[in-house]
Amino acid sequence: MALSALFLIIFLIIHLAVNLTSLFSETLFNEMSHFMGTNPLIQFGMQPILLFGVVFHFVMGFILEWKNKTARNVSYVKYNGGANASWASRNMIVSGMVILAFLIVHFIDFWFPEMNHKYIEMLPEDPNRYFTELQHKFVSPLRTGFYVIAFGLLALHLLHGFQSAFQSVGFNNKYTSAVKSFGKFYSFAIPLGFIIIALYHHFNH
Ligand code: HEM
Repeated sequence: MALSALFLIIFLIIHLAVNLTSLFSETLFNEMSHFMGTNPLIQFGMQPILLFGVVFHFVMGFILEWKNKTARNVSYVKYNGGANASWASRNMIVSGMVILAFLIVHFIDFWFPEMNHKYIEMLPEDPNRYFTELQHKFVSPLRTGFYVIAFGLLALHLLHGFQSAFQSVGFNNKYTSAVKSFGKFYSFAIPLGFIIIALYHHFNH
């Protein structure tokens, strides 16, 4: 679970970096998307690993939640989890499910049309199509609003998940507090970057 989390944490940095280029250069965004969308190593090497990582993380998340729920055969008379654990840490399954819902919508928006374009309808490649396609997706205030809410929950999910992943792999040394501080920065900076992209294209299409 922790290893797939660390893998996805790295993916999010790359995904954000590529999408951030759409804020200042249509040409650069098109070039990067065209490269990533047509490079065989990325398409047939990295993409299946990424998709496996995403599915694995969700499946393990559900299994862990179920195991935690069934670990106590006698339930607490009064459960006061808030006394020593944050809302984010007690509700990873809730934020995780919102992110899962987001990913389903996100795949319908971007990934399925992309796969259809390339591998089913096998349409001719236009290297300049990506920016317009991206802008088009953020016309709807409903979709943009949903994306922004999901990114908010992504921040909460990362806030606990980042340091928890390091703890689970046994990372405990003099850098632990630096990792925790960086984790807090990462948890807000990455979702904020995605929020800025969504809002920018919504108001500038
Ligand atoms: C404004 C925010 C975002 C934009 C504009 C965006 C854009 C895109 C685009 C254009 C693709 C299609 C790539 C392709 O296959 O050609 C894609 C795929 C994907 N996105 Fe996002 N994304 C955003 C946020 C996120 C977030 C927050 C996550 C994870 C929580 C995410 C996870 C994924 C995954 C797993 C894929 C499929 C893998 C791939 O082929 O790259 N995206 N996204």
